[in-house]
Amino acid sequence: MIESVDLYRQAFDDYLGRILHTPQPAGLYAPIDYIMGLGGKRMRPVLVLLSGELFGAPLEKSLPAAAAVEIFHNFSLVHDDIMDAAPLRRGQQTVHRKWDANTAILSGDAMLIKAYQQLDGYEPDLFKPLTRLFSRTALEVCEGQQYDMDFESRDDVTIAEYLRMIEFKTAVLLGCALQMGALIGGAKKAEQEALYAFGIQLGLAFQLQDDYLDVFGDPETFGKQVGGDIIENKKTYLYLRALELAGPGDAQELRDLYSVRPIDPQPKVNRVRKLFEECGADTRTREQIESYTAQAFDHLEVLSGKGKAQEVLRAFGEWLLRRDF
Ligand code: IPE
Ligand code: IPE
Ligand code: MG
Ligand code: MG
Ligand code: MG
Repeated sequence: MIESVDLYRQAFDDYLGRILHTPQPAGLYAPIDYIMGLGGKRMRPVLVLLSGELFGAPLEKSLPAAAAVEIFHNFSLVHDDIMDAAPLRRGQQTVHRKWDANTAILSGDAMLIKAYQQLDGYEPDLFKPLTRLFSRTALEVCEGQQYDMDFESRDDVTIAEYLRMIEFKTAVLLGCALQMGALIGGAKKAEQEALYAFGIQLGLAFQLQDDYLDVFGDPETFGKQVGGDIIENKKTYLYLRALELAGPGDAQELRDLYSVRPIDPQPKVNRVRKLFEECGADTRTREQIESYTAQAFDHLEVLSGKGKAQEVLRAFGEWLLRRDF
């Protein structure tokens, strides 16, 4: 199964190679080629291609939509890395560190436009629903990002608020990717909705896993700065569960740690990691990841008549859950 996912990834990278190049001014386009060239899991375009094929769309027909989603995703990362003051992305310097913030802003803007241009070639009957879904999703991602930033300085964030925030900043784009493939393949409304719902649940599991790896990941494989969320006082699932699970003394210590930004952040990162482990917030988070993944798979029942489709998507979900990067 994963073998076939690799084939989708390869087809996508070949396509990207054909559409990306560095015209002038290089100051605008070189950072785009740089970030896109760093790769990453390519999970979203693979989901577009997989879902398109499930409903009989030839790969070539889904490739531009897959590129739209992946270019948009990379745009959001370039700006996210400025907002999160992140030094590393995919094991390399972030765009705003390699160049500067102004470059990251404008190259990011150009990427958003390039993402939309990918949809230009679809016939009007497809262009309209694809664009509508894409625009709604893109705006939701911005809303999620705003909540993420707002929560950094709030100390009363609830788990329900956190879940809504990650549904917007992360999960909707996975749902969108799957539904775009389904639209291109001419899927029925109910099938489109099932795939979208699958994407949402998988996206929640995925973001929890991202939060988990941000604290417990191996710096060698993770590709981002481990501890970055703690440094930035991100109110992640780990943190919010820890406040519930820890005793009053440890909970207060956590709150205090999340109200400061020390110049040397390492002691804070180490202490927070230990507090998460001692109260079992790490285990609780892993359980929640399993639970969302199981809920995601439930939505695939609708596809039972679709041959290997269910199996491929399930294998993909399991691979995501096991990843260490
Ligand atoms: C990172 O996404 C941003 C999140 C939503 C957590 P990915 O983990 O998919 O990043 P790449 O594209 O594989 O680098
Ligand atoms: C990013 O969330 C979500 C978007 C870019 C929209 P994170 O801030 O957790 O992503 P990483 O960890 O930097 O990849
Ligand atoms: Mg962020
Ligand atoms: Mg970030
Ligand atoms: Mg993260």
